Amino acid sequence: MLFRRRRKHRRVRFGSLALLVLLIVGLWGGSRPVGTLDGGGTQAEAHRGANREAPENTLPAFARAAENGAWGVETDVFLTKDGIAVLSHDDTIDRCSDGEGRIADMTLAELNEYDFGAWFSQAYTDTPIPTVEAFLETVAGLEQINIELKDNEGGIAAVVTGQVQARGLLEKTVFSSFNLEALVAVTEACPEAQTAFIYQGNSPYALEILKDAGAFCAKYKLSGLHPVYACVCRKLLKNAHAAGIAVRPWTVNESFYAAGLIRLGADAIITDDTPMVEQVREEQPVSGIFSAALLNIAGHVYPLYEKVKDILD
Ligand code: G3P
Ligand code: MG
Repeated sequence: MLFRRRRKHRRVRFGSLALLVLLIVGLWGGSRPVGTLDGGGTQAEAHRGANREAPENTLPAFARAAENGAWGVETDVFLTKDGIAVLSHDDTIDRCSDGEGRIADMTLAELNEYDFGAWFSQAYTDTPIPTVEAFLETVAGLEQINIELKDNEGGIAAVVTGQVQARGLLEKTVFSSFNLEALVAVTEACPEAQTAFIYQGNSPYALEILKDAGAFCAKYKLSGLHPVYACVCRKLLKNAHAAGIAVRPWTVNESFYAAGLIRLGADAIITDDTPMVEQVREEQPVSGIFSAALLNIAGHVYPLYEKVKDILD
């Protein structure tokens, strides 16, 4: 009985010590900001447009994001059956329209039969699915256009890079994807295009990126990394920036985490709430110190935890 209690005490003491070490490491890293790549501070990018004020991935959502003063916008792209690039987060139209079916199985004319606004609010009745062409026209004045390729089907990389290039928007556009093959296809179709890999802690590449972000990006000719924000730590930012790689975490909707990422030096924050990010950037709250510390710990522990879980499964 006495022996078991001693063992329990030893475990508690070891746990407390480990927590203390993690906290010190986190605070130490979090208190030494890296600074953004261009030195201009963290920018705000509207995820699927201003999707809380207008239906996601529609032209009104992007017009609204611009009105809100967003620095950039993020959108998601698929090809229709007749090879037209259109905006949609999902591969079907079930959630965001009054129709049903896979985008890849429908022509643009067929998609135009449906309403992509009324599901959000009656005020947006008769909103069509946007083509990438119409999207580019709407957001051409912003500082960054982030086009996420949701798959690598039907030559989508060549179609979309061609449209961006034709409009002279290559310099301000970043092509992003969870799919590395799609990014390689972008570079093959258009070697000057900027590409960024999107990933989470459970990505097979998360630990490799944490170990040496520069080497990983060089291998795939990437100019950016878009990690889920729990993967961002000082080490990632430092290594990425040393190699000229921009880091733009997603989807950050809480001011606490925005404050930490701004403090650490993330280059842009992909968010559903760009005015919140702008406000935090202006106010630089003290909570940013604790948030940066927490992120600094999570950025190391999360990919490691996922890897161990993967091995044990
Ligand atoms: O760009 C990052 C983010 O958009 C990825 O998640 O599912 O919202 O496209 P998702
Ligand atoms: Mg996306």
